[in-house]
Amino acid sequence: MEIPFGRPIIGPEEKTAVMKVLESPILVHGPLATQFEDDFAAFTKSPHAVSVSSCTAGMHLIYFTLGLGAGDEVVVPAMTHVATAHAVELTGAKAVFVDAKLDNGNIDISKIEAAITPRTKALAIVHYLGVPVDMPAVVAIARKYKLFLVEDCALAPGAWVDGVHAGLHGDAGVFSFYPVKHLTTAEGGMIILKDRDFAKKLKLLKAFGVDRTHGERKVPGVYDTVALGFNYRMSEIHAAIGIEQMKKLPGFLATRKANFEALEQGLAGVRGLRVLPQPTGGRLESCHYCLSVLLDEPLTANRPEIMAALSARNIGSSVYYPQPVPRMTYYREKYGYDAALYLNAARISDGTIALPVGPHLGIEHMNHIASNLRDIVNGVVK
Ligand SMILES: Cc1ncc(COP(=O)(O)O)c(C=O)c1O
Repeated sequence: MEIPFGRPIIGPEEKTAVMKVLESPILVHGPLATQFEDDFAAFTKSPHAVSVSSCTAGMHLIYFTLGLGAGDEVVVPAMTHVATAHAVELTGAKAVFVDAKLDNGNIDISKIEAAITPRTKALAIVHYLGVPVDMPAVVAIARKYKLFLVEDCALAPGAWVDGVHAGLHGDAGVFSFYPVKHLTTAEGGMIILKDRDFAKKLKLLKAFGVDRTHGERKVPGVYDTVALGFNYRMSEIHAAIGIEQMKKLPGFLATRKANFEALEQGLAGVRGLRVLPQPTGGRLESCHYCLSVLLDEPLTANRPEIMAALSARNIGSSVYYPQPVPRMTYYREKYGYDAALYLNAARISDGTIALPVGPHLGIEHMNHIASNLRDIVNGVVK
């Protein structure tokens, strides 16, 4: 049995849709990016959606549009993909890191206020592995200090808090459509938000700051540029894939949930590890990106051996994320690293194994993973 950690599910629908674009004269600036935005807005019940070329581009675009630069600070989680921090640093502003909670890897909300200074302009949280952050408490902090609140939703399509989709609690949420995510466009991203004027600004600055789209140009090729901006657009080819993936998303999410529950059950009682929980059915609805197990401290040194044994049995695994971001060389050399500040993030980076639950797999695969991991860990636990 071959069990890859992730595999995009691209069917005949996506292939036909891409071929249709390629056979048409419109590869960018067409109706499909707009349709994908509308479909994504409908799924998340968002007033506005802005397609972008990646989640990183979307987050950078937001901070750039806010006018952040040298001397500004943004509070970000230490336990995340480096993109969450890079998007801040690319503007010249400084990422200020906050440790994670050990129970589920999300930002430790009780430590956010201590990281806020008079220079703080924004606050970013990450719904780690699709487990939603309990947003009302974060929103209260953002309001108290008048901070722009960004939700990094790279792994959070299908995650809800109090019946509101992830990304709509703060001021903007940004999603990723990288291949192994919940849905893919190969590369791509989407910003969702409530504020119409900010959405308009994002649309302007994601396309050079030019004042009219192709469709709005009375004379072809004639436009003005009213602001400094990027080319962070999504092409029609990517959007065509996204539209087809949106139709499949509810099914993908249901399979992820069923797989997660089966694997969690299969791992119950395995000595030496615990499953990081993912809530469903209550205020918080997770969208099950993967199942992460935290090894007991003494077993942490054996993680490479355990992952190699899984790999030898054709079971893919991964690590989310390989280091607390402030410990990564770029940030460590820039700001120094005080290990005492990020104990939980470090414990998660060094002691977890992420196991697959994606829709390319079924219950029989979950049972196979559980029995093999049980075997392997029993061989290691003394
Ligand atoms: C939490 C988080 N944020 C951002 C990103 C970057 O997304 P993209 O590759 O679409 O820029 C990732 C990618 O895995 C991620 O996990």
